[in-house]
Amino acid sequence: MRIGIIGGTGNMNRGLTLRWVLKHDILMGSRKLEKARRIAKEMNALAKGFYQAQMQGSITGMVNADAVKESEVVAVTLPPKATVPTLLKLKEQFTPKHIIVSTVVTMTKREGLFTSRHSLRRRTSIRPNPQLR
Ligand SMILES: NC(=O)c1ccc[n+]([C@@H]2O[C@H](COP(=O)([O-])OP(=O)(O)OC[C@H]3O[C@@H](n4cnc5c(N)ncnc54)[C@H](OP(=O)(O)O)[C@@H]3O)[C@@H](O)[C@H]2O)c1
Repeated sequence: MRIGIIGGTGNMNRGLTLRWVLKHDILMGSRKLEKARRIAKEMNALAKGFYQAQMQGSITGMVNADAVKESEVVAVTLPPKATVPTLLKLKEQFTPKHIIVSTVVTMTKREGLFTSRHSLRRRTSIRPNPQLR
């Protein structure tokens, strides 16, 4: 399966990519192509060292829009504040066939406790492209 990760160069990416690449092709998305390629190369080396011949998948760095376009499953791993603006920019790339999962949570740790510092106050709906219905 091809899994695109939006915001795929961050902290969550390392844990998800390293597990999923055993069996799946990972399309690591970023705002910057060079950054995506550099981190994908590092992660490939790490994963190959770990799984060796058992690794069936691959890790490829690309911009977020291409990661959505070329994937079947999309994982959204963006900071809360960046999530709605980024998904709005990418909405033309999504189709009804995409399966979307998200790790996004608005909780942050403060004085040893988790609190919701960033709230997604604006109610924003991201509707599918009507031409694809
Ligand atoms: N880290 C954890 O242990 C953990 C656990 C559970 C849930 N979560 C949640 O999972 C989500 C991701 O966490 P994370 O720690 O992986 O996040 P992160 O490392 O801070 O950010 C992930 C990626 O998002 C992109 N990004 C940052 N600012 C952006 C902006 N303004 N616009 C567009 N893209 C932006 C960056 O990629 P590029 O610069 O390459 O574009 C960055 O590498 C968060 O919502 C977090 O609350 C995290």
